[in-house]
Amino acid sequence: MWQNTITLSLVCAAAAATANQILFPNTTGPYRVGSKDLELVDYSRNDIYSPLPQLRDLMTTLYYPIHDNQTTCTIDTLYTPLLATYLDTLVSAPLGTFKKFALPSCVNAPLARPDLPLVLFSHGYKGSRLLYAGFLQEFASHGFNVLAVDHPYDALVVEYPDGRFVYNTFDESVAGAVEEDLNVRVQDMIFALNSMNNSTITSQVPGLSSSKRLQTSRVGILGHSFGGSTTLQATVNDTRFVAGTLFDGPFWGFANKTGTDAPIMLLAALQPSSEDWVTEWTTTWPLLRSFKRWFDVAGTLHLSFDDIPLLADLLGADLSESVGNVTGTRMISMQSAFATSFFNQFLKNETDGLLDGGESEQWPEISFVMD
Ligand SMILES: *[C@@H]1O[C@H](CO)[C@@H](O)[C@H](O)[C@H]1NC(C)=O
Ligand SMILES: *[C@@H]1O[C@H](CO)[C@@H](O)[C@H](O)[C@H]1NC(C)=O
Ligand SMILES: *[C@@H]1O[C@H](CO)[C@@H](O)[C@H](O)[C@H]1NC(C)=O
Ligand SMILES: *[C@@H]1O[C@H](CO)[C@@H](O)[C@H](O)[C@H]1NC(C)=O
Ligand SMILES: *[C@@H]1O[C@H](CO)[C@@H](O)[C@H](O)[C@H]1NC(C)=O
Ligand SMILES: *[C@@H]1O[C@H](CO)[C@@H](O)[C@H](O)[C@H]1NC(C)=O
Ligand SMILES: *[C@@H]1O[C@H](CO)[C@@H](O)[C@H](O)[C@H]1NC(C)=O
Ligand SMILES: *[C@@H]1O[C@H](CO)[C@@H](O)[C@H](O)[C@H]1NC(C)=O
Repeated sequence: MWQNTITLSLVCAAAAATANQILFPNTTGPYRVGSKDLELVDYSRNDIYSPLPQLRDLMTTLYYPIHDNQTTCTIDTLYTPLLATYLDTLVSAPLGTFKKFALPSCVNAPLARPDLPLVLFSHGYKGSRLLYAGFLQEFASHGFNVLAVDHPYDALVVEYPDGRFVYNTFDESVAGAVEEDLNVRVQDMIFALNSMNNSTITSQVPGLSSSKRLQTSRVGILGHSFGGSTTLQATVNDTRFVAGTLFDGPFWGFANKTGTDAPIMLLAALQPSSEDWVTEWTTTWPLLRSFKRWFDVAGTLHLSFDDIPLLADLLGADLSESVGNVTGTRMISMQSAFATSFFNQFLKNETDGLLDGGESEQWPEISFVMD
């Protein structure tokens, strides 16, 4: 039932690139983008998964618009060492390949627009916040401050600045584990949001200060797979999450009984991981009491909604059996276009008609299922 586990078994066609870095594509939105890693320690909460007493400790990355006139730009390695090695093995790439990937975004550049809306992102089970960086930087370039959160012990591996690391140990076969893990994930998202309103923490971000603060009273949330379940539940547990988007995420947890008052958008793989998900979406749909849209995306599989399609393109590898037939660049521009339209509507009060069928000739892969 945890189909979002990354199980790619294929051979990477490409030889190792000779350059030191393999750059992700440039963003296409009106804003240039910066990024900043932040470690968030929750002093009020022990980590229930840790074998030894340990505070819940989150690694996060904030992606954000920077000033047009930013002159210096530091480009840094995207993947942390253990994650990079894991990915090399996963796709049978020469050891050291994934260490070369980098985003063109400017690491630690000053955040330019604290007035723009904040949106939080939750990864899939056994995923990583870093496996969505291509999408997240593109989405930020369209005018959002975006915080991506890792969920330790559920994520594939989380690596901290001091060298500590935590692999996935979560046991999905234990009864009640789904609900418990979902609740921990929602606590993570609420704590991450609280932290974005804590100037002791945000003062680490160049451009923010006690007088230049992020907008934390009305924010968006989005996620892939189990991160989609997290999204739906977070809108019920904390009404600061005013709107949510799910990328092929099942409607799990108690929110599938209570429903939500928040606007919800679902972009679903045309062949989702399980037929049950389609039944679950259909069953819970009437309990979504605000604006709602469900779109299917032709040519996609469950793993199309992370950066793997783009990584396959950059490596020249054919991973279509695992990630479908839509190219990585196309996936990212689609996810970003729909998320931008949705969050513009509910966080900026701007509508462009995309979610009502406008520009449908530009997105032939997208089919409207339900509202
Ligand atoms: C990305 O933008 C930079 C700076 O504007 C430019 O030098 C570079 O060629 C662009 N890269 C690609 C792949 O278009
Ligand atoms: C860059 O632009 C911002 C606002 O657009 C301005 O506040 C800042 O002074 C400018 N910096 C430089 C070095 O010109
Ligand atoms: C979310 O709400 C449910 C139902 O009221 C509750 O059991 C759970 O503890 C809440 N979780 C968080 C993180 O607030
Ligand atoms: C803000 O963050 C600091 C550093 O983690 C912490 O000590 C403090 O308790 C936080 N403040 C609030 C109001 O949570
Ligand atoms: C943010 O923190 C301030 C105190 O530092 C508090 O007055 C305000 O209500 C908080 N806002 C939100 C949205 O939590
Ligand atoms: C509700 O979520 C539970 C997991 O928490 C799942 O087993 C069940 O199938 C879901 N029901 C619907 C209608 O989505
Ligand atoms: C991808 O294309 C192949 C060949 O046309 C087809 O068999 C397969 O079903 C497609 N995959 C998806 C996810 O649409
Ligand atoms: C949103 O825009 C509409 C039309 O432009 C306007 O009628 C409405 O008052 C606005 N709502 C908010 C909350 O600004």
